[in-house]
Amino acid sequence: MHVPQLIEKKRDGNRLTDGEIQRLIQSFTRGDIPDYQMSALAMAIFFRGMDDAEISALTEAMLHSGRTLQWRVDAPLRVDKHSTGGIGDKTSLVLAPLLACEGLWVPMISGRGLGITGGTLDKLESIPGFRTQLSAAEVESQMERIGCVMIGQTADICPADKKLYALRDVTGTVPSIPLITASIMSKKLAEGLDRLVLDVKYGTGAFMKTAAEAEALAASMKRVGTALGVRTTAQLHAMNEPTGEAAGNALEVAEAVRCLRGEGPPDLEAMVLELACAVCDRSHDQLAARLRDGSAWQRFQAMVAAQGGDVEALENLTQRVHPAPIIVELPASHSGELTRMDAGAVGRAVLELGAGRATASDTVDFAVGCDRIAKTGCTLREGDPLLRIHARTTAAAEQARATLLTGITVQ
Ligand code: URA
Repeated sequence: MHVPQLIEKKRDGNRLTDGEIQRLIQSFTRGDIPDYQMSALAMAIFFRGMDDAEISALTEAMLHSGRTLQWRVDAPLRVDKHSTGGIGDKTSLVLAPLLACEGLWVPMISGRGLGITGGTLDKLESIPGFRTQLSAAEVESQMERIGCVMIGQTADICPADKKLYALRDVTGTVPSIPLITASIMSKKLAEGLDRLVLDVKYGTGAFMKTAAEAEALAASMKRVGTALGVRTTAQLHAMNEPTGEAAGNALEVAEAVRCLRGEGPPDLEAMVLELACAVCDRSHDQLAARLRDGSAWQRFQAMVAAQGGDVEALENLTQRVHPAPIIVELPASHSGELTRMDAGAVGRAVLELGAGRATASDTVDFAVGCDRIAKTGCTLREGDPLLRIHARTTAAAEQARATLLTGITVQ
């Protein structure tokens, strides 16, 4: 294989064969292709794109660059959801145990937050003792007993994606639909799934700013999933205001616990049920009943206990385990209808408070964030609370307040 020739081929707008893509990814994973050549290829793909067959071949090559989760032949249906990331999006925490209650297996490999979007692993790690790195034997045993597991990616799952993403991150080649599709789908398909639902967000708090961009990404991921034998559906969701009423790690876990107990909030519950219906052959009402009768909540507690987490702490996560030293309300300056609670502004404020990461090596503060976030469409009187800020210091609360005010409109 002559790598410069393949770079030129793509640079000039020609398609790469399945064999060429396979050999490229194998060599890159082994360390035989230098970063400068792989970066040049990523840039050529960024400008020239890939057709569906090339994207499928790239996804498959990255999927097989490492270990995949293996299940017994007569295992229950394996299902999962992937979200492209939003603000206050804690749906995974509710969805996985809910689906497990229906006898499905949910082997969920999740990520950490980066930039303004939060990560499921960070939220889970706000539960004292919760382990997101489990051995293959632990994963298998937990699936048999509980039907769901929520873990982080390991070094041996899709190593090609890990290396390529690190290059894309510093070479301006992240926002490429073929590269995003292969990156996301290779990791999801490594879970050995039968069904996958994609939650593709668009708007001020999302990676994709317009519905058209989200539609294009959703269609690409759906085609690849289907071509590789996984029943894949996609849902587009606007992300112009936060999901639910809380954003920040422990605050979101506390909200997910309320939802698991059937206590809403309505937009979060509706999103969980819509996503669940896409991978589970039960009706909306049957699934909603699992949130009301305590079974989803029990299943979540069983999962937390199995992964070393302190179940009792769930009752009091924000008050006792992670209390923020400063909690202040942000009042409406005048009466009117709340017409904008901008997800991007809330995401930036929560990041500034310390709940997220600006770079991958930053540590997160579990206690900080916002809760009781008012929903657009509600009527407020002067002085009514728009939300509460949970901060480490008064200065941090002040900074968050200023950021939040740029994204709130009452008229
Ligand atoms: N998330 C991923 O996992 N990969 C991408 O390329 C973009 C978002």
